[in-house]
Amino acid sequence: MSDLQGSVDVAGTVGQDGVVHVVRNRWSSTRGFVLAAAGSAVGVGNLWKFPYITWENNGGAFVLMYLLCVPLIGLPIMVAELMLGRRAQTNAVSTMESVGASVVGGRNWRFVGWLGVAGSATILSYIIVIAGWAVASFFQCVSWSINGYTPQPPDAFPQFMANTGLQILLSFLFMAATVLIVIRGISSGIESANRWLMPALFGFILIMVLYMLTLDGFGEAMTFLFAPRFGELSDQAILEAMGQSFFSLSLGMAIMITYGSYLRPEQSIPRAATVIVGMDTLVAILACVILYPIIFTFPEIKSSISGSTTGMLFITLPPLFYTKLSGGSLFGPLFYLLVLFAALSSSISLLEAVVALLIDRFKYTRLKATLVSSFVLFIGTILVAFSLDPSNILAQVQVFGTSETGFLHNLNEIFFRGKTGVMGIADHLVANWFLPITGLCTTIFVGWVLDKKILIEELGFAEGSMYLLGFRIIMRFVAPLAILYVLYSVIAGTADFT
Ligand code: PFF
Repeated sequence: MSDLQGSVDVAGTVGQDGVVHVVRNRWSSTRGFVLAAAGSAVGVGNLWKFPYITWENNGGAFVLMYLLCVPLIGLPIMVAELMLGRRAQTNAVSTMESVGASVVGGRNWRFVGWLGVAGSATILSYIIVIAGWAVASFFQCVSWSINGYTPQPPDAFPQFMANTGLQILLSFLFMAATVLIVIRGISSGIESANRWLMPALFGFILIMVLYMLTLDGFGEAMTFLFAPRFGELSDQAILEAMGQSFFSLSLGMAIMITYGSYLRPEQSIPRAATVIVGMDTLVAILACVILYPIIFTFPEIKSSISGSTTGMLFITLPPLFYTKLSGGSLFGPLFYLLVLFAALSSSISLLEAVVALLIDRFKYTRLKATLVSSFVLFIGTILVAFSLDPSNILAQVQVFGTSETGFLHNLNEIFFRGKTGVMGIADHLVANWFLPITGLCTTIFVGWVLDKKILIEELGFAEGSMYLLGFRIIMRFVAPLAILYVLYSVIAGTADFT
């Protein structure tokens, strides 16, 4: 059944009793759902952030930390979020409200949903700008492939960032693509887009990995990535690994609750979540397998990597394809197409979390919900674009004013680590506050407040089984304590997850 029917997200069917029942839009298959959720999870966080923080944390041992955090904390929280969504069959805010209605705290739990949706909206506003850089790198590479490479002046990237009109145009192109998919609904839009985006993405990754095998630095890169050297592990590494696993798996963002709400009762959540988490982790590791051999083959680029996350992906890499790597005119555009596909499947999910809220709670049609929310969120994107120009006032703003001393200055330090500019502040707010607080509340809700019966019904774990016991121990103790440690470090100023 087309999701476009009347542009609404529910369809009426006449039951045996002759009454018209409202049926929620759904994933047409578990495979489609898994690809869509993995599409949300696999994004610039995997291709841009993970290789960077793994590099900064000296590889091996950090990767191991990450591989511990993912099944121990990330996977159970993903299961919990999908479960809540499926139980309530509605957007994140209404989910927390309705599942919470009969337990301690009641409908007030909805604030967790609001925080998640606010996080999604904020992330979307700036992730669209980063995706715009990938659009630019893609076109740049295509043009070099066709017309030949022209060396760039050293200030090319700063100039590009300061070109606000261009930033807005690129972001707009990307937002338009996101809107065109979300507007078509769950199965005909999000699911069918991911059905070809994800296989294409994996295909590209495979081609790139095979290509990297031919580089001299491949062996050294693999040693760096996989041989744990615990002596080089900093105290912060475990925290960073945890923060990254949250962001990478799209947790604490209302996304998995929303995606779970389109699941059918017979679809197994633990099984699906395991595949989603596995795919996400695989892509994060493979992103390093693609990028590190380049670094180890051309050690002179090492210095340009440290210092900025953007450096590696958008400044250092594009010229390398044309000056150092053979076959670069093919692999350059291909690599950025890969980044674009990954970003698109994530941005779809971020927009859907907001759209679902407008449809379910405010009774908007999908068309209206998508257009209204993308319009409002794009205003945020425009502000972010302005803030990339260092001379613009938006690049310097601080939430509590720019005074260098006093109470307001201290508030800036405590809540935003002194970050300036719209993008820096938004990123800080979400990664350090929204994500952990939403995650903490979700684990407390599922571990301590929710009736165990619901876990048994939704997850198919038998009473007394090891799975149920393990899941509850993680929800009650392991995950909340780990997230509390994250929050403590944020408050104490010993960690920063941006
Ligand atoms: N998980 C995506 C990534 O790793 O790039 C980004 C993301 C998407 C974060 C959706 C949060 C989110 F809700």
